[in-house]
Amino acid sequence: MAEAILTATKIDKRFGGFIALDGVDFTVAAGERVGLLGPNGSGKSTLVNCLTGALRNDGGEVVLLGRRIDRLPTHQRIRRGIARTFQVPRPFASMTVRENVEIALLYAGGATAAGNEAPAILDQVGLLQKADQSSRSLTQVDLRKLELARAMAARPRLLIADEVMAGLSTAEVDEILALLLRLNESGVSIVMIEHIMYAVMKFAQRICVLVAGRKIADGDPQAVIRDPEVERAYLGE
Ligand SMILES: Nc1ncnc2c1ncn2[C@@H]1O[C@H](COP(=O)(O)OP(=O)(O)OP(=O)(O)O)[C@@H](O)[C@H]1O
Ligand SMILES: [Mg+2]
Repeated sequence: MAEAILTATKIDKRFGGFIALDGVDFTVAAGERVGLLGPNGSGKSTLVNCLTGALRNDGGEVVLLGRRIDRLPTHQRIRRGIARTFQVPRPFASMTVRENVEIALLYAGGATAAGNEAPAILDQVGLLQKADQSSRSLTQVDLRKLELARAMAARPRLLIADEVMAGLSTAEVDEILALLLRLNESGVSIVMIEHIMYAVMKFAQRICVLVAGRKIADGDPQAVIRDPEVERAYLGE
């Protein structure tokens, strides 16, 4: 078993009286590809927000590479190696593709190297040819690539991709899938949150399922999707 990169233990999150996460354990090993599934509103993005610092967990703890991070601000967590994409990409529309990556590099602490590193990152996601275009001019699939480039600017050990394929055509989904597999081969652990089941099944070495803020399954993808409790959750019983 590879070394754990991320270990989140008994994560609780409440919004007022509503329990969004209820004692969720979530781990990612070095180099691992994990699928995070669950119906709409089950707490997937909330878990990501607690891991990366957009939200503060009410209970439990998050350990990244041996150090507790759940009381650190987002930018410090990013510098320690965890990066995420947002479900709704929000690049700066008035800036070029390259400038958007440079901003992400500055935020991730690579200030001096920002200008030099942006082309390599754009190349990694297949956007180098479009570096000087306005990000406003990008198609949906290229916006997703830019979102991944912005996350990769932090040179993360762990990348969390929150529905980067939603709304894309099958060919575009395959393109992003290939890109994520390439990033993983370069050594980055990846958590894929996705409703597109065939993409998750192609990608994930392990699948976790959240339902109503609780983890109901965690393990081998084939076994998890045949789990009766998981089937029930998806049939909306
Ligand atoms: N900031 C917030 N304030 C109040 N409630 C919230 C907040 N963020 C999320 N919630 C609620 O918490 C629950 C979990 O939401 P979350 O966005 O984590 O779901 P999800 O699994 O990512 O769903 P989807 O597949 O639709 O993206 C939902 O009921 C949502 O309405
Ligand atoms: Mg979500």
